[in-house]
Amino acid sequence: MSDLPKVLVLGAGGFIGANLTERLLADGRHDVTAIDVDGEKLEGQIGHARLTFHRHDIRRRDDSLETLVRDHDLIVDLVAMANPSLYLTNPLDVFHLNFTENLRIVEHCVKHHKRIVQFSTCEVYGRTVAGVLGKDPAEMPFPFREDESPLIMGPVKNHRWIYACAKQLLERVLHAHGLEDGLNYTIIRPFNFIGPRIDYLPSEKAGNPRVFSHFMNALLYGTPMQLVDGGRSYRAYTHIDDAVDGIVRILDNPGGVCDREIFNLGTPENETTIRGLAHRMIAIFDEHFRRPGDPHPEIIEVSGEAFYGKGYEDCDRRIPDVTKARTLLGWESRHDLDSVIHHTMKYFVEAHRAKTAKGS
Ligand code: NAD
Ligand code: UGA
Repeated sequence: MSDLPKVLVLGAGGFIGANLTERLLADGRHDVTAIDVDGEKLEGQIGHARLTFHRHDIRRRDDSLETLVRDHDLIVDLVAMANPSLYLTNPLDVFHLNFTENLRIVEHCVKHHKRIVQFSTCEVYGRTVAGVLGKDPAEMPFPFREDESPLIMGPVKNHRWIYACAKQLLERVLHAHGLEDGLNYTIIRPFNFIGPRIDYLPSEKAGNPRVFSHFMNALLYGTPMQLVDGGRSYRAYTHIDDAVDGIVRILDNPGGVCDREIFNLGTPENETTIRGLAHRMIAIFDEHFRRPGDPHPEIIEVSGEAFYGKGYEDCDRRIPDVTKARTLLGWESRHDLDSVIHHTMKYFVEAHRAKTAKGS
């Protein structure tokens, strides 16, 4: 083992985790231990001299997780169920993984005096004031600020909120451990990161992934592009490379500026409605990737309940205020919406065409 600081990345096999792990290894300033139940997205890195990968379920009830925490300098926790369809179909699994199991990690950090960087979500902000008042959110921009904005969630019967609620509760417990035990934590609230290695195409793997994968599936397999409730909701997309730049700055924690702080990471300039996203994706696909014979997907509208099941309620608009990351960390994202879409699309198209070529 080297003398470099040792980072434990929990959930390293996921979309953000795999991109972060790759960057940490390329930077060469850490030894990385990557933990996940799934190592497929880490394939390019496994075997790297500064990487140890354990295929490990954090729900295991033995002392392995505590030992891992004890033996590392910095803990990064990304483990979660993060696809909205699961909040509707498996609310208790979402709660137990995203809160109960993550809480065990936090408690090990308290016991062993380790700094933890915890991934939360922009969903903790919930709905906007406009949304709650039944007004058009386009007419009432409401940027979310880490230390000022209220966190507005819908009724309990709309169990979509169990994810946001579990994440919010974990944030509050981290804060309380900071106050009472001196726990050193930093919370990251990502705003819709996308890029290579996000999710999967639903025609190739069972499940209901996030929206970009559904729309990609439509472009590659000709399934309809389904606009949930008319695609009126807004999202602001951030390129995973920009996101990883921000995450690495938070891990570095220059001068302790991230101690016991919450950071939004997002790109307010890259805001679009979901309908707008569908149209930009079609235009970019047609301009850069379309081949003769590729399908022209139909755009249809579907209700939230028909698409996700009972208990769905949407976040109407989420605009990140990134003043804190800009001023304390000098972080700014560089990719505009078209380049985020283009880069993510390229990843899907190349993977799909390589697969199709192999099969033919
Ligand atoms: P992801 O689903 O790709 O990654 C989560 C990883 O956790 C997966 O690789 C999964 O295999 C792993 N995991 C699940 N259960 C496990 C267990 N029991 N033991 C070990 N590993 C387990 O999701 P992501 O998009 O990379 O998100 C990472 C984190 O960031 C999550 O906490 C998510 O809530 C948060 N987040 C992500 C976004 C985003 O824009 N992608 C936005 C908001 C919040
Ligand atoms: C996601 C997930 O909750 C988490 O990954 C994370 O916490 C957070 O947002 C984030 O990435 O910042 P959401 O943005 O609602 O939530 O997830 P998507 O499935 O990508 O949905 C975005 C919007 O597209 C929603 O309005 C949804 O109703 C809509 N949608 C989804 C469609 O119109 N069509 C589809 O085929 C799928």
